[in-house]
Amino acid sequence: MRQLGRIVMQTVAAALAGVRRHFLKHKFWTTTRYFAAFMAVMTVGGFLGAASGIIPIKASSGHWAITQWFLQFSKQRSVATHTLGMESPGLDQPALVLKGAGAYEMNCRACHGSPAAPSPRVAQHMTPRPPYLPSTIGNWDPEELFYIVKHGIKFTGMPAWPSRQRDDEVWAMVAFLQRFPSLKDDEYRRLVNGELGVSGEAVSIDDLERPAPRAVATNCARCHGLDGLGRGLGAFPGLAGQQATYLNLSMQAYAKGERHSGIMEPIAAGLTVDEMWELARYYSGLPKRSSSLAIPESASAIERGRLIAQEGIPSQRVPACVACHGPGEIPRNPIYPTLTGQYADYLVLQLDLFKNENRGGTAHAHLMRAVAPRITPEQMRDVALYYASLESNYDLPLP
Ligand code: HEC
Ligand code: HEC
Ligand code: HEC
Repeated sequence: MRQLGRIVMQTVAAALAGVRRHFLKHKFWTTTRYFAAFMAVMTVGGFLGAASGIIPIKASSGHWAITQWFLQFSKQRSVATHTLGMESPGLDQPALVLKGAGAYEMNCRACHGSPAAPSPRVAQHMTPRPPYLPSTIGNWDPEELFYIVKHGIKFTGMPAWPSRQRDDEVWAMVAFLQRFPSLKDDEYRRLVNGELGVSGEAVSIDDLERPAPRAVATNCARCHGLDGLGRGLGAFPGLAGQQATYLNLSMQAYAKGERHSGIMEPIAAGLTVDEMWELARYYSGLPKRSSSLAIPESASAIERGRLIAQEGIPSQRVPACVACHGPGEIPRNPIYPTLTGQYADYLVLQLDLFKNENRGGTAHAHLMRAVAPRITPEQMRDVALYYASLESNYDLPLP
C-alpha cells in the first residue's frame, strides 16, 4: 500500500516537473495555446450543454445560495458604481410623494405588493422574487433607487421606467419610496386611491351626478379626482373643463408613445379609441374649479405673467400665449389646451419638458417648440402663476 502511495507521489512529482520544464522550454506561447484550447473546449462544451437542453431554466427551483449571493453582490456593486457623483433633488414634497404613490399602485404593486398584501401571489413565484420594498429600501440611497427604477435590472423581470424622457417622474417614485416604509395600510390606500376612498371601490358609478364612463371610477379618479380637478396639489393636472379634442388627442399621443410619460402611457395604451372619446367628453363637460387656486406668490409675479400672456416678449421673440390659449372671447381652435385654473407647478413642468424636448405631444406640439425654449425659468413661473390665478377661460376679455 505504502509502495503504491510512493509510486503515485513520484509519478505526480515527475509530471509536475515535466510541466515546469515544458513551460520553461516552450515558454509563453505554448501555454497560451493550451489555455486557448481549454477555453475553446469549455465554450463548445457549454454550447453543447445548452443545445442538449439539460440546463434547467425553471423559476420554480429558485437560485442556488452561491448564485443568489453573486447576483446580489454584482447588483450592489453595479448600482454603486453607476451612481457615483449623482445628486438627488429635494424629495420631501407632498406633490412628489402623491404622484409617486399613484404611479406605484399602477406600475409596481402587482410585483412588489402593498401593506395589505405584501406578497402578491403570482409574483412570489418569480426567480428572483420581487422583494416587499419597505424591508429593502433602507439598503439604498435615493440616487441608487433612482438608478434602479429608471433602468430596471436585467435577467430579473424588474422593468425599466416606461418613459426614458421622464427623470422627473422617476424622482417622484423615489420620493414615494422614501415614505413607503412608514405607511400604514389605511394611509397607503388614502394616498393611492384619493377620493375613491380606503376601499378603492367606495364610489359606485350610480352615485356620480352625471353618468361617467366606467374607467373614471375604477381608474382616472384615483389621480385626477372624480371632479376632474386633480386632487389639489399639482401632482396631477386638472382635466375638468379642458377642450375635449385636446384631451382626446393627448390620450392618443400617450397611447402611441408620442407624448412621454411613464405614468400616462401605459394607462392610455389600455383604452380603446371609443373610451378615449367618451372620457374626453366627460371630463371636458365637468365644471372648472369655482374659486381660483390659492397662490402664495406676490401680485407682481402674476402681473408680470399677465403681460407675457397677453403681449408676449417681443425682445425674445415670444408670441402672446392668449393668441392660442386664451383667455379671450374669440372661440379658439379646440386643439389648443386651455390653461386657466391649471396648477402652476404642472404648467411650469410642461414648459420645461417642451424646452428640453422631453414632452412630445400631439401633432400640434411643434407650435410650442417655437415658444418654450425662448422663455427663462422665472418667466415660466410668472406666466404659469398668472394662468393658475384665473378662474374660467372667458372671464378676462382681451384688453
Ligand atoms: C414584473 C415584476 C416587477 C415589476 C412590475 C416591478 N419590479 Fe421591481 N423588482 C422585481 C424583481 C424580480 C426584483 C428583484 C431583483 C433582484 O433580486 O435582484 C426587483 C427589484 C426592485 C428593487 C431593488 C430592491 C432590492 O432591494 O434589491 C427596487 C427598488 C424596485 N424593484 C422597485 C420597483 C418599482 C418602483 C417598480 C414600479 C415602477 C417596480 N420595481 C416594478 C420585479 C418587478
Ligand atoms: C396614477 C395616476 C394617474 C391615473 C390613474 C390617470 N392619470 Fe392621467 N395623468 C397623470 C399624470 C401624472 C399626468 C401628467 C403627465 C405628463 O406630465 O405628461 C396625466 C395627464 C393626463 C392627461 C393630459 C392632460 C393635459 O393637460 O395635457 C390626460 C388627458 C389624462 N391624464 C387622462 C387620464 C384618463 C382619462 C385617465 C383614466 C383612464 C387617467 N388620466 C388616469 C396621472 C394619472
Ligand atoms: C401658436 C400657438 C401657441 C402659442 C402662441 C402658445 N402655445 Fe402653448 N400650446 C400650443 C399647443 C398646440 C399646445 C398643445 C400641445 C399638444 O397638443 O401636445 C400647447 C401646450 C401648452 C402647454 C401644455 C398644456 C398641458 O396641459 O399639458 C403649456 C403649459 C403651454 N402651451 C404654455 C404656453 C405659454 C406659456 C405660451 C406663451 C408664452 C404659449 N403656450 C404659447 C400652442 C401655442
